[in-house]
Amino acid sequence: MPLHIDVLTLFPRMLDGFLAESILGKGIGRGLLGVNVRDLRDWTADRHHTADDRPFGGGAGMVLKPEPVFAAIEQLQTPGCRRIYLTPDGTPFSEPLARELAGQSHLIFLSGHYEGIDQRIRDRVIDQEISIGDYVLTNGTLAAAVVIDALARFIPGVLGEEKSLTHESFTGKLLDFPHYTRPAEFRGMSVPAVLLSGHHGDIEAWRRAQSEEKTRQVRPDLLK
Ligand code: ADE
Repeated sequence: MPLHIDVLTLFPRMLDGFLAESILGKGIGRGLLGVNVRDLRDWTADRHHTADDRPFGGGAGMVLKPEPVFAAIEQLQTPGCRRIYLTPDGTPFSEPLARELAGQSHLIFLSGHYEGIDQRIRDRVIDQEISIGDYVLTNGTLAAAVVIDALARFIPGVLGEEKSLTHESFTGKLLDFPHYTRPAEFRGMSVPAVLLSGHHGDIEAWRRAQSEEKTRQVRPDLLK
């Protein structure tokens, strides 16, 4: 059974282009994973489809109400599924976590918005909280897209070439080396001669040195 993902959001159309395009769209088209985007307002009971309300205790902004989220998750969840809330105060997202999520059978992503969501949602119907970085988005829908994109790369067959996974940043804890393609000479800039040499050992050594230097400059923390 391919991985199935439900995304619960108040802004479902934000994901239309993302899911239709590119390598991810192809993976979905080939049945390697399934993604259903669900509009939280479909689980609201009132005529105005109210999904949020003012916070108890006062303060700015609106809070996502518990009723539609509980109703949606209780309807969609399956035994063993993982229910994930995207939030800037969650566990930092990482490559190992992407790999782990790719190995699950059913994921439910809840996108929060405004000032936050009712704590009782987090206490009762969420298994894991994930942040994609130390900045605040207007809502978690794009964060869900980022997590889905990163985990999809670990689903067998999604990347055409299995090899492309191994060479890249973070898989080997070093940043990527520079890439070049034709033409060998462009506006006076030439491709490093070693890449045209045909000596695979030299090319490997050059790429390794470039990766180490880049990592030293940009992300010395990765070398520790
Ligand atoms: N929602 C808003 N900001 C976020 C972030 N940085 N990560 C995950 N979800 C979010």
